[in-house]
Parts: sequence; C-alpha cells; structure tokens
Amino acid sequence: MLINNKSYRTIWYDKISESVKIIDQTKLPFKLEVISLKKIDDVIKAINEMKVRGAPLIGATAAYGVFLAYRELKNKSKIIEEASKIKETRPTAINLFWAVEKMLSKIDYTVNKAKTEKILFEEAKKICENDITSCKKIGLNGLKIIKKFHKNRKEKVNILTHCNAGWLATIDWGTATAPIYYAKKDNINVHVWVDETRPRNQGASLTSYELNNEGVENTIISDNTAGLLMQRGKIDLCIVGADRVTSNGHVANKIGTFMKAVMAREFNIPFYVAIPTSTIDWKIKKYQQIVIEERAGTELSQITGLDDKNKIRKIKIYPSKSKVYNPAFDITPSRFISAFITDKGIIKANYREIARLKDERARKKTKNN
Ligand code: MRU
Repeated sequence: MLINNKSYRTIWYDKISESVKIIDQTKLPFKLEVISLKKIDDVIKAINEMKVRGAPLIGATAAYGVFLAYRELKNKSKIIEEASKIKETRPTAINLFWAVEKMLSKIDYTVNKAKTEKILFEEAKKICENDITSCKKIGLNGLKIIKKFHKNRKEKVNILTHCNAGWLATIDWGTATAPIYYAKKDNINVHVWVDETRPRNQGASLTSYELNNEGVENTIISDNTAGLLMQRGKIDLCIVGADRVTSNGHVANKIGTFMKAVMAREFNIPFYVAIPTSTIDWKIKKYQQIVIEERAGTELSQITGLDDKNKIRKIKIYPSKSKVYNPAFDITPSRFISAFITDKGIIKANYREIARLKDERARKKTKNN
C-alpha cells in the first residue's frame, strides 16, 4: 500500500543491515519513521510498546523474533526462554502464539546451524507472504458484499470500521480495509466512517492516515457517534478485524467493537468481521477463556499530539488522583456477527461453518505430506 505515493509493507528484512525493518506506528500520523530490529530484545520492545500492532503484524514480527533469537543465541533453552518472552508481550492476539509455535516447530537442534537459520528466515518470510495472500483473498471476498450494497443503493456505500484493521495491522492490504481497497479499484464510491478508537486512537491516527494515502474518502468520528449515524441511516455496513476468534465464532477485538455490534443489530445493519484463518483459536469455544490484555492507565490519562511547533508531545488530560482502567479488547458474541469475511470465503459465525475451514486445512496438510 502507499504512503506519500510510495509503496510500503509494514515489515521487511534488509540484507545490507541484516536487520528487520518496521514502520514505527507510535509516530504515525505525524512522522514516517522506519526503524531496525537487530536483536530479539528489539522485537520484544517493539511489540510491547506497540511500535508494531494489529494481530497479523504482531504475529509476523514475532516470527522474525524467533529467527533473530536463533541467530543470536543458537542454544535451545535460551531460545525457548526468549520465545516465552515474546509470548508474554501481548496476550490477546492469537497470531502471536500461532507464529511463535510455527517457528519453533521448524527448529531442528541436531542439524547444521546455518541451515536452520536459513529455514527460519524463509519461514518468517513465508508467514508474511501468506498473510498478504490471505488479505487479498479477504479483499476479493469482501468486495462481493460491498458490490451488493452498491447495486442495491446505486450510490455511495458508507462503511463503519473500528480501530485499525488496515494494512498497517497486517503486512499489506489489511483485513477490514482490503474489501474497501478493492471496491475503490472497482470504481465503487465508498466512504468510511472511522471510529477514533480511544485510548490509543488507532482509527484516527492509523486507519484514516492509510485511507487518505490510498485516496479513500473517510471521516473520523468519536467513539460515541456511530449510534446516531446508524439511527439516521448513514451507515450501510460495518467491517472490523479481530485479534482472536473462538472455534464457535465469538470475537475478541479492540475495546468498543462489542458496543458497535450491539448497536448495528438494533438498526439491522450488517456487522462483518474480516479475518485470516490464522486468527481462529481452534482450541477454545468459551470466550471467557480469552485473556483480555490490560494496558497502562497512562494510555488513557495522557494523550499524544503535535504542538504548535510541530513537535510530538504527550500531555496529561485527567486529574492526577483519578483511578483509570484500561482493558484493550472486548468480546463480541457470535450472535451479533452477520458473517466472517475470510480468505476461504464468507462464512457464518458458528461452530459448524468454522470447523469446515479446519477440515479443509487438515486435508491440505495431509495432501502436502
Ligand atoms: O491493540 P492493537 O492496535 O494491536 O489492536 C488491533 C486490533 O484490535 C485490530 O482490530 C485487530 O488486531 C485486527 S488487525 C487486522
């Protein structure tokens, strides 16, 4: 996708500096800064501090983290220790655990180290490439839905999204945004209502920024505005991403998603969740089993912006004595979800349909072995 008309991905390996490059998302939308991750500690810090964020990108960064850990340490117990540290960074997005396990499973400690290093590097690259392929497929499947709205209304299609499930949250294209980018390519007139997404403002700082760069019309709204817009018929459909989906279709996503889904149900507005299959946690059915990350209260009590001298500054906005509580995600029960837009098609939010994806995966694995 584009930033200032130049094509970017969110993560890549630079052979010259022998480092993993990422866009520091804490600086957006004010400054485009590419930083290098050379060691496993850099990776852990980048995920913890949300320099990279969004479930698929967290997974991809973690995968490169295991590669860097192997390159640096080579010793089995130390690598396992670092892998556990990566897993402790952010507990909700399943992609992180999935990617670390996948990478660890590629390590054979009995063979030549250079060979293993190469295998790990190729696997991390493959995770990134597969994510791009998945996002494109999600985009094409979601386009079918947007086309239907366009056909019915023959005018602008208004889409609400929450947080950033755009290309900045993946490697390229995004999940919730991929159908929108394909619609734009198809000359469909789309307009996106972008939830600001307090406390970290991923909607305002990231989603709006990437849509602007791609020339997609969008308007930022406060997190409290969608109800009024729905009541006034200004939202045709909602598309959000997910950090983890249970095997029966409950969705963990950025705090505030649940309220939007309930509101959409009140007004009969379709509520779609766009996901790659790597976001499904096949092991759990009960959403109570999902660990909801709680982040520092300062994310609420302080806000970052540009001062009048164009310097990025953080300021306090709450009384110093006030207590704050900052859970980063919530759960939308499956009954509020119209369908999942996946890389394998559009499926209902229930165990039977989700299990079919798993069976397909198992069939493919057997075929390839
Ligand atoms: O805390 P973040 O910014 O990592 O949260 C991101 C989200 O909640 C996204 O909606 C989700 O990861 C889907 S990304 C394709």
